[in-house]
Amino acid sequence: MYKRFIQPILFSLDPEKAHHLTFSWLKFIHKIPGIPTLIRSIYKVEHHSLEREVFGIKFKNPVGLAAGLDKEAKLYKELSNLGFGFIEIGTITPKGQPGNPKKRLFRLKADKAIINRMGFNNQGVEEAIKQLKKNKNVIIGGNIGKNKITPNEEAVNDYSICFEKLFPYVDYFVVNVSSPNTPNLRTLQEKEPLTLLLNSLQKLNLQKEKQKPILLKIAPDLTDEQLLDIIDIVKDTKIAGVIATNTTISREGLLSPDKNEIGGLSGKPLTKRSTEVIRFLSERSGKSFPIIGVGGIHSVEDALEKLEAGASLIQLYTGFIYEGPKLIKDINKRLIKK
Ligand SMILES: Cc1cc2nc3c(=O)[nH]c(=O)nc-3n(C[C@H](O)[C@H](O)[C@H](O)COP(=O)(O)O)c2cc1C
Repeated sequence: MYKRFIQPILFSLDPEKAHHLTFSWLKFIHKIPGIPTLIRSIYKVEHHSLEREVFGIKFKNPVGLAAGLDKEAKLYKELSNLGFGFIEIGTITPKGQPGNPKKRLFRLKADKAIINRMGFNNQGVEEAIKQLKKNKNVIIGGNIGKNKITPNEEAVNDYSICFEKLFPYVDYFVVNVSSPNTPNLRTLQEKEPLTLLLNSLQKLNLQKEKQKPILLKIAPDLTDEQLLDIIDIVKDTKIAGVIATNTTISREGLLSPDKNEIGGLSGKPLTKRSTEVIRFLSERSGKSFPIIGVGGIHSVEDALEKLEAGASLIQLYTGFIYEGPKLIKDINKRLIKK
């Protein structure tokens, strides 16, 4: 139904308009009595063999929604009804900010890809909290970042604000230093500033009665040497794990007219590289920390590959836009059979 009827309509619209229309439509239909139950009965797959315990959290299934779709935590309940085992909100910054000027989102249909340069558009941490206070039982990852106007030297402060404020409302944290759309953000992936940032957050974490897992989200464009540094940093700072990967700045092998737009590329062209990064981290670390695998999962096979490469959980974004919610169901059904 999604691929035959809904996706062609959405794909005829400007991508950002299609995004907002889908949000309003999903919100609207969930207000009709009986519809949430109907949607759950169509898409949710529940089975004990799908359950996973990763970094101390029990997940009903290993297929999550990647950050960036529900940036402001406005739709996590409705999205979880489509079958996701967990939802990552954000990237959230301390203060609200508009992001980059439009047009900033491009569909590369021939490549089954998206280029985005959204630039952490969100209403800030306080607004996100208002939404999260309504949460009953959805597992939420809080993906945090810094405001565009905050210089890198003061970045720790921004991440700390988001960490402290979101702490009561999320199940795990993701430190996003890998978006290509905030100027110089990626230099925070270097050993020294990254160790400082993660140690600062861990220090705040240790002051809590019960600590929450902190994960690091990395770019697919890191070299092997940089990935080895990441392994050391995860061990040194004792964070819970890694999310691999964010979007890429590479433009290799693209066919679509919009291929030279500035921003991060996601979707099918990213599948292979993000799996390589997962495998490298898993093998070279001796599987010493959990990895959430994300990047170009458009089919059951893509999902199985990520898990086989060493991911404990997986996330979808672009594949969900192209294939619809049936992809979540297909992956989960196949995992039951395994
Ligand atoms: C439009 C768009 C916005 C995104 N925004 C964020 C974000 O705010 N924070 C983040 O960590 N990742 C963000 N991402 C990256 C995704 O979470 C994911 O890591 C990446 O797209 C690769 O997965 P995919 O190929 O399944 O899309 C965004 C991706 C897209 C397409």
